[in-house]
Amino acid sequence: MADLRAGLNQRRLRLNPALSRALRSSVPRADQLMQPYFVAPLSEGHREPLAVPGLTGVYRETPDSLLKRIEGDLERGVRLGLLFGMPARKSQAQGGADPRFDFDSTAGQIRRVKERFGADFFLAVDVCLCSHTDHGHCGVLTLEGDHVENDATVRQLAAAAAAYAQAGADCVAPSDMMDGRIKAIRAALDGAGREQTILMSYAVKFHSRFYGPFRVAADSAPKGELKLTDRATYQIDPANARDAMACARRDAAEGADILMVKPGLPYLDVLARCVAEIEKPWAVYEVSGEYAAIELMAREGLMKGPEAHVESWTALTRAGASLIITYGARQGREWLENL
Ligand code: PBG
Repeated sequence: MADLRAGLNQRRLRLNPALSRALRSSVPRADQLMQPYFVAPLSEGHREPLAVPGLTGVYRETPDSLLKRIEGDLERGVRLGLLFGMPARKSQAQGGADPRFDFDSTAGQIRRVKERFGADFFLAVDVCLCSHTDHGHCGVLTLEGDHVENDATVRQLAAAAAAYAQAGADCVAPSDMMDGRIKAIRAALDGAGREQTILMSYAVKFHSRFYGPFRVAADSAPKGELKLTDRATYQIDPANARDAMACARRDAAEGADILMVKPGLPYLDVLARCVAEIEKPWAVYEVSGEYAAIELMAREGLMKGPEAHVESWTALTRAGASLIITYGARQGREWLENL
């Protein structure tokens, strides 16, 4: 018996905690975590940051509280942020001529953040129309309201990306899932003299139920009397890995600098494939529903929150992610140190 087991004794290596730690092959680092921020313009009327339901420690910031939050986060070692701005007014975006959108509100927030923190804080900015449109879709609808118009939407996304880059964003990150937007946005950035601005594509974004808490935070759920009630005609079907790989290859070819898979844990197989097949830095978004699920269970005493978050980040790192976008980034250093 002893002979048979000799070659299979894995437990021997787990006995000593120091050795066991030393042998770890995938350890997430605090400096690869990116913190999302939500900021509403003052016209919205709230003077204090508002807690986001389900996302402990995450707020819908005011312009002033945003600066204070980033200042505190820098002290906690956070150097990477992803900003979700909101317009002062929503636009009617259905049919007819190109609608006018308010990209200036977010551009103003970007300018303030960069003026204050400069190169100490790497600021990526989400580019999408879902919090700008009165119907909540990620683009401009046809007159009939039954389809998101691809090219009319891409024109607006390119304008938004150029405005954010000119305001000083280090990186623009389109999350809309239209076809051809990476090429159009790269051209708009270069045309605006922003050759240095990084383009991070939400290349592989699935049509997921795990975005629930986010849509409350960003006020971006499809709403009203619409024929199109969800985002299935532009986001990737969770059952279609082939579509995911096609999007990944296309966005890499169109010039994305960093590519992303989103959500994280339910799509680890896709992430691992992307990393193996496409030689680009890969980011992964641990989305609101993934983060909130852990927080809710922790609150019920059903699991240890910090350890569970670190376990998720470990899995995402093991699958090959270089960058992890997570609502827990601001606690990252503390949680990882106590590991
Ligand atoms: C907007 C956008 C979404 C997220 C990031 N950008 C939501 C959506 O597609 O409805 C999700 C982020 C999260 O759930 O944490 N296009």
